[in-house]
Amino acid sequence: MRMRFKPYARPELNACAFSVDDPLSQKGTWHQSFVRQQPIHLELGCGKGGFLSRLAVAHPDINYLGVDITDKVLILAKRNIDRQYAAAQREPDNVKIMSLDIERIYNAFDATDTVDRIYINFCNPWNKKCGHKKHRLTHTKQLLLYREFLKDGGEVYFKTDDDDLFADSLHYFPEAGFEIVWKTFDLHKNEPEWNIRTEHEQMFTEMGIPTKALIAVKKPSEFKLVYKKEKVVMSKKAIHTPNAPAAIGPYSQAVQAGNTIYVSGQIPIDPATGEFAATDIAGQTRQSLTNIRNILKEAGADMSNVVKTTVLLKNIADFGAMNEVYAEFFEQPYPARAAFQAAALPKDALVEIECVAVV
Ligand SMILES: C[S@@+](CC[C@H](N)C(=O)[O-])C[C@H]1O[C@@H](n2cnc3c(N)ncnc32)[C@H](O)[C@@H]1O
Repeated sequence: MRMRFKPYARPELNACAFSVDDPLSQKGTWHQSFVRQQPIHLELGCGKGGFLSRLAVAHPDINYLGVDITDKVLILAKRNIDRQYAAAQREPDNVKIMSLDIERIYNAFDATDTVDRIYINFCNPWNKKCGHKKHRLTHTKQLLLYREFLKDGGEVYFKTDDDDLFADSLHYFPEAGFEIVWKTFDLHKNEPEWNIRTEHEQMFTEMGIPTKALIAVKKPSEFKLVYKKEKVVMSKKAIHTPNAPAAIGPYSQAVQAGNTIYVSGQIPIDPATGEFAATDIAGQTRQSLTNIRNILKEAGADMSNVVKTTVLLKNIADFGAMNEVYAEFFEQPYPARAAFQAAALPKDALVEIECVAVV
């Protein structure tokens, strides 16, 4: 349904005590902005507020924040909240609503605004044209933003009518360091007692379209977000294992960036002894590749994930002997490879091997 321009919406929202006029100025102080210090739950894309208003009135021991991008629906959420609290004869002191673009939510929330739970209900991006997937509120890049203020063990409750969005979200959540602890492809078949039907849920149900739903829990992680001009451009984490030589210097044994793992050059040191595992090229190649395999294992990958290697040899005449051992570690389709003779290798090793793997 097309919503008309509502010139009265902003003045009415500005006059409302639980509507936040300038959410950016609240960054880092959301907890203090409530009367009672208690867990915060956030609804992203709250729309007309049918869900938020009933949830908030039923749980005075939780503080609720409803976010939507447009005043045209926020004004209806405001009126719904007024109505529900009036019926319950309570002050709306545990709920706030605000106008904010969720794709830029980092402007209004930081790690001190610890949120316990996020609800995302029927959140298809408006524009279904090119690149619309990146604008999904459950896209991996969005989930990485929510991680910044969602506490470890905090939950995301997600509902949708859209099969593609749900199928893709089953990948987005684990990719962003969440564990999906519950899911259903038809929420109303055995409707949980905690479910509150949203406006869109009701509409799609009447059209015979089942509601898909999941609950995902944030796992603690070493992922770090990398920002450029205040936008997240990637996440990366260092991989460490005692089953490969320790990184001695300003580098990591490996780094995972998104779904790509970059393994540093491995010389044939046995981590158990700190010495070369062998003096010949076959034994040294085996140890370098064993180190790589152990690092990949730590990252949840194996040699079949490797797409590219670089082999540095002290003596290119060792190529054949290196190749024989190398072939034991990989199966077809083999990774791409470059092999060089290097002027010198660390500790006078006969071989050093690095690789790139994709998970
Ligand atoms: C399909 S409606 C669903 C509304 C409600 N959650 C429901 O289930 O009935 C999606 C809502 O998400 C809001 N929305 C979509 N993208 C948004 C964004 N980037 N920032 C803030 N709100 C957004 C829209 O304005 C709209 O109100």
